[in-house]
Amino acid sequence: MIAPIIFALTEDDPEKAHELAIRVMTRVQNVPLLLQLIALWYRANENPNPVKVAGIPFPNPIGLAAGFDKHAEILLFLQALDFGFIEVGTALPCPQDGNPRPRQFRIPEDGAIINRNGFNSHGCAAVAERLKDVHPDLHIPLGISCGKMKDTPLEKAAEDYATVASQIGTFGAYIAINVSSPNTPELRRLQGREYLENIVCSVVLQSAGKPVFVKISPDLTEEELDITLEAIIHGGGKGIIIGNTTTARPSRGTGIFRRQPSRTYGESGGLSGPLLEERVLPLIKRSRTLEPKLPIIGVGGTYDRDSAQRKFDAGANLVQLFTGLVYRGPGLITECRNVEI
Ligand SMILES: Cc1cc2nc3c(=O)[nH]c(=O)nc-3n(C[C@H](O)[C@H](O)[C@H](O)COP(=O)(O)O)c2cc1C
Repeated sequence: MIAPIIFALTEDDPEKAHELAIRVMTRVQNVPLLLQLIALWYRANENPNPVKVAGIPFPNPIGLAAGFDKHAEILLFLQALDFGFIEVGTALPCPQDGNPRPRQFRIPEDGAIINRNGFNSHGCAAVAERLKDVHPDLHIPLGISCGKMKDTPLEKAAEDYATVASQIGTFGAYIAINVSSPNTPELRRLQGREYLENIVCSVVLQSAGKPVFVKISPDLTEEELDITLEAIIHGGGKGIIIGNTTTARPSRGTGIFRRQPSRTYGESGGLSGPLLEERVLPLIKRSRTLEPKLPIIGVGGTYDRDSAQRKFDAGANLVQLFTGLVYRGPGLITECRNVEI
């Protein structure tokens, strides 16, 4: 309802729109009556669809992807929208500004976003404070997404991930290792054999028994996926999140939205939205074939119930939303919640 107003107010700056929305949501979540009304509204037609994945009970299989509530500011509001789970972060060991602005761009005709945020984070101490406050009121599972500082060399990356996991992992039902953001130089090399097993091992040691997932890039080749899967499993990881944004610019004209070229399509950064689906589905299918029991979270290009269903049909156990939520609003959660699993 208020999304079109926020879009109009911040026409050429999606990040400003997001910040404005966060401010509104923070205010609303501080008023318990408003929060209850929102929860009632979104649960009015509730048809529960609980599922257990990696030993964790989820009230429904539709979650919020990492990056939307990076700093754990609006968790109570998001819970009221009836998400089945929320991934907080990506959080870093210390505060970091990220890349200069502008660093987010809308491509409305494709329902897409390009971002090159570069891991802006308040740092895990600030996130821990907020999580401590809201944790007693949260009734849905949280994922804790961990990242590394831009200046930490790849050889020392495992220490950064382990630090975040040890400081805030305790608030999560699962811990996610983000080695797939395209906006931190060389980060995606951490998906290779040389580094990943050691990173997963280090995080598992700090995870107090919580399952550890690894979020991968949709730009991996089949051969690279196979190596990554092996490293996750050898390192003690329990699941995979497929996937992050792509640096590719897939051919356009999905027919879903207006076909009209946008200048922003040429911006550098990670692309999200419906164009991602053709990259994500084959990786989910291959992972499911190679590892029949591995928990898989499917993310990338979910914009309606059918696109969510296609991820479950490909082998995902859970699905996350981000860009679809920006364009379609919270009604998308209600629409997707009743998928067949
Ligand atoms: C503005 C923006 C910021 C993001 N930040 C993160 C992040 O901090 N950590 C992460 O793992 N993924 C991040 N992502 C990626 C999303 O979690 C998701 O994997 C991706 O957008 C594909 O899903 P979608 O097509 O539903 O948006 C971000 C995406 C966007 C658009």
